[in-house]
Amino acid sequence: MKKFITVAAALSIAFGSFSLLASPRSDLKEFRKYFKKRFPKVKFKSYKDGIYALDADRRAAWQDWEDFAPPYTDGLEAGKKLFYKKFKNGKSVSSCFRKGGIRIRHKFPYFDKRKGKVVTLESAINDCRVKNGAKKLKWGKGKLATISAYMAYTTRGKKLRVKIDKDPRSLKIYNRGKRHFYAKRGQLNFSCADCHIFNAGNMVRGNLLSPALGQVTHFPVWRKKWAKKSEAKGKTGAARGFGTIQRRYKGCNKQVRAKPLKIQSAEYTALEYFHSYMSNGLKINGPGLRQ
Ligand code: HEC
Repeated sequence: MKKFITVAAALSIAFGSFSLLASPRSDLKEFRKYFKKRFPKVKFKSYKDGIYALDADRRAAWQDWEDFAPPYTDGLEAGKKLFYKKFKNGKSVSSCFRKGGIRIRHKFPYFDKRKGKVVTLESAINDCRVKNGAKKLKWGKGKLATISAYMAYTTRGKKLRVKIDKDPRSLKIYNRGKRHFYAKRGQLNFSCADCHIFNAGNMVRGNLLSPALGQVTHFPVWRKKWAKKSEAKGKTGAARGFGTIQRRYKGCNKQVRAKPLKIQSAEYTALEYFHSYMSNGLKINGPGLRQ
């Protein structure tokens, strides 16, 4: 652990070009440049696979798991049904979206001028339900995560294209997310960047740390740990195991003993906006399989 901290501190200094004055475009350039230098053998397009872009043995086992019988198949089917399920007024989640909601995931989250807010895919799904007289689904996991996973699945192969709007409110939200990403927090006093930039590829408590570049492309993910957690509570439905990116944020906040925030809070949505923008150009490959 000591080594980890020293490395983090040294690299934070070397990476000082990350200032709030920089434009999103130059941030993105720096971000990609940093990882290219850190992992010269890893191709840009491979970053969509998280730790599996870095470690060949883990990758082989993961690929077998995916090829043999991906455990998310039933959940995707359940998500698809909910996506097309008619509300009382005859509309469905699908009818709230452009192109019937197919192959559009790569443009989320986006800044909505009229609302003056950033819209995440999950918030758009729930807004759609409420607008059509249905109940909001619980954030972060379960049914909502399966609908989002289905929408990601139909978008596989399309490159992430998150835009920071010219509207100054959009840049403000981006900068808020960026600040969250680089701010130290929790009893352990670590930022997201300490683990997923400066220590990407290093081990922490038996875990290989994934690079921040490409972390969002495969969300929602199906995670063994989350499936087990649901099963321990007696849940057997197809939605067990699924979680959205903001569910993951909570877990990573807890790792450093910081108080996690609410899923879909303005702060997490800002973080998702910044975090997603930084993976632009990588292919959507959700839902991903994770331990
Ligand atoms: C103490 C180190 C640590 C900190 C700080 C940390 N994480 Fe993590 N994070 C992990 C570990 C360990 C994993 C699991 C291995 C992996 O995929 O990196 C993980 C996984 C993730 C994943 C899932 C990656 C995937 O491919 O499934 C995301 C997304 C993520 N972290 C985002 C964040 C964000 C955003 C922050 C800041 C709020 C953060 N992390 C802070 C250690 C950390």
